[in-house]
Amino acid sequence: MITTLAIENYRSLSRLIMPLERLTVVTGANGTGKSSLYRALRLLADAARGEAVAALARDGGLRSTLWAGAENPAQGAGRSGPVGLRLGFAGDEFGYAVDFGHPVPARSLFDLDPEIKAETTWAGPVLRPAAVLSERKGPAVRTLTADGGWHRSAGELRPYDSMLSEFADPRLAPDLLRLRERIRSWRFYDHVRTDAGAPARAARVGTRTPVLGHDGADLAAALQTIREVGDAKALEEAVDGAFPGSRLSVDSQSGRFELGLHQPGLMRPLSAAELSDGTLRYLLWTAALLTPRPPALLVLNEPEASLHPELLPRLADLIVTGAQETQIVVVTHAKELAGELARRSAGRPFGVNATELVKDEYGQTEVAGREGPLDQPPWHWPKR
Ligand SMILES: Nc1ncnc2c1ncn2[C@@H]1O[C@H](COP(=O)(O)OP(=O)(O)OP(=O)(O)O)[C@@H](O)[C@H]1O
Ligand SMILES: [Mg+2]
Repeated sequence: MITTLAIENYRSLSRLIMPLERLTVVTGANGTGKSSLYRALRLLADAARGEAVAALARDGGLRSTLWAGAENPAQGAGRSGPVGLRLGFAGDEFGYAVDFGHPVPARSLFDLDPEIKAETTWAGPVLRPAAVLSERKGPAVRTLTADGGWHRSAGELRPYDSMLSEFADPRLAPDLLRLRERIRSWRFYDHVRTDAGAPARAARVGTRTPVLGHDGADLAAALQTIREVGDAKALEEAVDGAFPGSRLSVDSQSGRFELGLHQPGLMRPLSAAELSDGTLRYLLWTAALLTPRPPALLVLNEPEASLHPELLPRLADLIVTGAQETQIVVVTHAKELAGELARRSAGRPFGVNATELVKDEYGQTEVAGREGPLDQPPWHWPKR
C-alpha cells in the first residue's frame, strides 16, 4: 500500500505531501488542484511504462506544467537551484522518486522536451542509504542485483527513458522489476465515455477480461468475466440495488458480446446502445470496481459525473467494496459522494482518509486544516 505521495512543482502543487490510506477521498473547490493531483499520479504510472516524458509533452511540456510561482512565495521571488518537477511515493514495501527537468540546450528542435534528471527506488517506507535499491543520475544507473552487489551502467540510459522501464531485469534488478510491475498494475478511470458513440455501447468480440479497459469498450466481456470468475453475487446486488428488479444478461452472437439490462415492465432487455448515460456509467463503475484482478492502486477521477444523486450511495457502496481488495483514491467534486463514502466506510477494517484541497494566498495547493507544515516526505529527493 502507498502511504505517502509527494509532488513538487507540478502546476499548482508547488509542494504537496499527502498521506494515503486504503481509501483516500480527495475533494476541493474548483481550481484547488484535484485534477492536477490525479494527473500527477498518472505521470508516476507513465514513468513505469517509459511514457512520462511523452505524457508531459502532451500536457503542454515542462514550461506550462511547472509551478509558475516562486520557490518560497512567502519570501518573494527567486530560486536557489534548477527547477525540477518531482514526483514520488513511499509505501510499506517500496518507494520511488523521480525528478524531471529542462534539458541542457543543444540547439536541437527537441530542446523543450523534459528530461529525467534523477530517480531513486528504495525498500520499505523510509529512504535510508541502506534501503536504496537503485539510483539514477543523468545517464548513470546503479541497481542492487539478486546477489546483493551493485550493477553499474554508465551511459546507456537516454534522458527520456526511466530506469524503471529500461533496467527492470530479473537478474540485475529484481526489486526494480517487482516495483515496475506493481506500478504498471495501477488503474486510472477518468470520464469514461458514455455518449451515443461511446465504445462501451458497441457490441464487440469478447475475451476473458478481468480488468476493464480505460475506454470501457470491453464492458460486456468484463461484466461476464465477473459473473464467471468473480463476485457474481455482488454484481447482481449492485445492479438490483441501483435499478430495483433489474438484472444483467450478456449474449454472444458468434463471439460478439452484447450486454442486456432486463428491467421490470419491459418486454425485452435494453442493449448497451439503448441505456441512458447514467445507467451505462454506473455499469462501467460496477465492472471497474468488482474486478476479479484488483490492481495495486485504483484511481477514479470524478466518478460521480452524470450520475443522479440517488445513485451516489450505490456508487459509494461499490467503492467501499472495492477498497476491501485494493487501495483506492477517489478524486471528486461531489460533497454528497464524499459524505456517503465516509458513512459507508465507517467501522470497516481499513483506513480511510478524507482530504480537502484548498489554495493558499499564493495560488499553491494545500491540504486543508493541516496542523503545521508536513514539509518533507519520508525521503530526500534524489540529487542530480
Ligand atoms: N503551471 C502552473 N502553475 C501554477 N498554477 C497552475 C499551473 N497550471 C495550472 N495552474 C492552476 O492550478 C489550479 C488547479 O487546477 P486543477 O485543474 O487541478 O483544479 P481542479 O481542482 O481540478 O478544479 P476543477 O474543480 O475546476 O476541475 C488551477 O487554478 C490552475 O489555474
Ligand atoms: Mg478538475
